[in-house]
Amino acid sequence: MAAQVALAESLETTLDTVAQCLVESTGMTACAAIVFDGEPARLRVAGTAGLPPDYAERFSAALRASSEALPAVSAFRSRQTVVVDRESGEPVVGMLENLDDDLDWRSIASFPMIARNHPVGAVKTFWQGPPPDGQELEFLAAVADQAATAVDNARLFADAAASSRRDEGLISAFLALASELSLPAVLTKIVELACDIADARYGAVGVLGADGRLEDFITHGVSDEQHNLIGHLPIGRGILGALISDARPLRLSRIQDDPRSVGFPPHHPPMTSFLGVPITVRGKIYGNLYLTEKRGGSEFTKGDHRAVVTLAAQAGVAIENARLFTEAQQRLALEARHRLARELHDSVSQALFSMTMETRAAQLLLEREGLPEDGPLAERLSNLRQLTQGALAEMRALIFELRPEALQEEGLAAAIRKQAEGMSARTEIAVDLRLPKRRLSLSRDAEEQVYRVVQESLANIAKHSGARRATVRLRHRRAARSELLVELSDDGVGFDPSVRQPGHLGLRTMAQRIEQVGGTLHVDSRPGRGTRITAVVPLAHDGARLAVRAATRPLRDES
Ligand SMILES: Nc1ncnc2c1ncn2[C@@H]1O[C@H](COP(=O)(O)OP(=O)(O)OP(=O)(O)O)[C@@H](O)[C@H]1O
Ligand SMILES: [Mg+2]
Repeated sequence: MAAQVALAESLETTLDTVAQCLVESTGMTACAAIVFDGEPARLRVAGTAGLPPDYAERFSAALRASSEALPAVSAFRSRQTVVVDRESGEPVVGMLENLDDDLDWRSIASFPMIARNHPVGAVKTFWQGPPPDGQELEFLAAVADQAATAVDNARLFADAAASSRRDEGLISAFLALASELSLPAVLTKIVELACDIADARYGAVGVLGADGRLEDFITHGVSDEQHNLIGHLPIGRGILGALISDARPLRLSRIQDDPRSVGFPPHHPPMTSFLGVPITVRGKIYGNLYLTEKRGGSEFTKGDHRAVVTLAAQAGVAIENARLFTEAQQRLALEARHRLARELHDSVSQALFSMTMETRAAQLLLEREGLPEDGPLAERLSNLRQLTQGALAEMRALIFELRPEALQEEGLAAAIRKQAEGMSARTEIAVDLRLPKRRLSLSRDAEEQVYRVVQESLANIAKHSGARRATVRLRHRRAARSELLVELSDDGVGFDPSVRQPGHLGLRTMAQRIEQVGGTLHVDSRPGRGTRITAVVPLAHDGARLAVRAATRPLRDES
């Protein structure tokens, strides 16, 4: 028997062999080897001889009905041999008869299987005669212990095989990360590996955007056709939502039984078992990795859980790397722009400035020499001075645009001044600027939006109005609430604002920007009557403004 056991492939084959050998070498008529395994672990018939093919199911059903009372169960739990004689009339006989009534037996002896000092199952033996006793009983108990060692070895072997498969999978994940794959490719690989390691039919990685909503969703096991039928990305309610808000691993044997489950959308493949793990890096949640439909088992195991946690950590590193890379690229682009702004400022701007000074000096020289002020030379010099001043104003506006933080540093009024002067220099439209001297208490976002609106309005005046004069006015108005009034007007050709112009986005975007910061935009224009654009934007709450001032200035300034 030992030789055959050693050669057997699976635990089931091993135990069938054990049962068969017992039946052949003793007086028993039938034998069942019962093991305690699975997750959650429970007793099940794993090998039989001389018993009907559905005996394993019958045993499981009887176990569910009467759990602890079955003699094989008490042998396993008490680690004692339990013998039942049908003729004794003990209550337990009735219990056994529910399960074994149609079988040919008079007595049943159950032996615990104990390996390395822990119980792994029981051997149940059927006898036509009176129960075995004495030496025979001892011999059978010893055989049961042999079988126990075989069971334990088989389990150790399976664990080792599974964990080496897991290790291989984890190593592949590390390799995928180290190679130069794109983020979606790395995540696809990680989901595939997770499915493979944990024997899952379906797997997915959900990546959260900065707003906490699903930004990307990579699946494995779901066909393109199914994808198209389901349509949208998961919205992140139900179990997935719970995984995001709770950020703890979740293992379920039936998704449907969890009170947070909200069901599946139409055309979604049916899914029962679930294993989900949040993807976090240094406490920040980047998304989640989850598997469904464990193959050949009712639920995912603790080993699967451990492997998926490791893979989720890998996915976290991949996502974080990709984000850091994008940020680094943005920073590089920003630095390049700063460098360009500096260069333009130090070279071209300085040269233009010197040119205006030189022209002015030439004009003074001309006056001193007594040459006519309206002569051709004076006129040329005046033109030259205007041109260089214009170029300088344009250059300032350009440098300003190259530095996104310039608006914040210099304030809205200074930024608008640069823009207007640049436009005026380009077009020769005289721009009258009426800007407050003190800095307005606008939020960063409002400052940016108002600046862009003024910029577009000035561009429209330059492109469409044909005006000679324009006015830009910024005023702090204390109405029911404190607000900023922005007015841009020109004396140009005007237009009919009620006529929609498809494909022209400027005016529409302006209105959206002002709405976004809680304000309103009004366009007042008629053909031949010039144009006036008015935006009203709420200023930061007065109380808040005072508090900010009090915190940043010495108190006596407030008097
Ligand atoms: N100050 C203005 N004077 C005269 N017409 C104007 C003025 N501002 C806008 N318009 C008219 O309104 C139209 C729509 O302006 P809008 O800014 O929406 O689009 P656009 O400037 O033509 O294109 P873009 O999408 O590049 O801004 C313009 O094409 C022009 O006919
Ligand atoms: Mg426009």
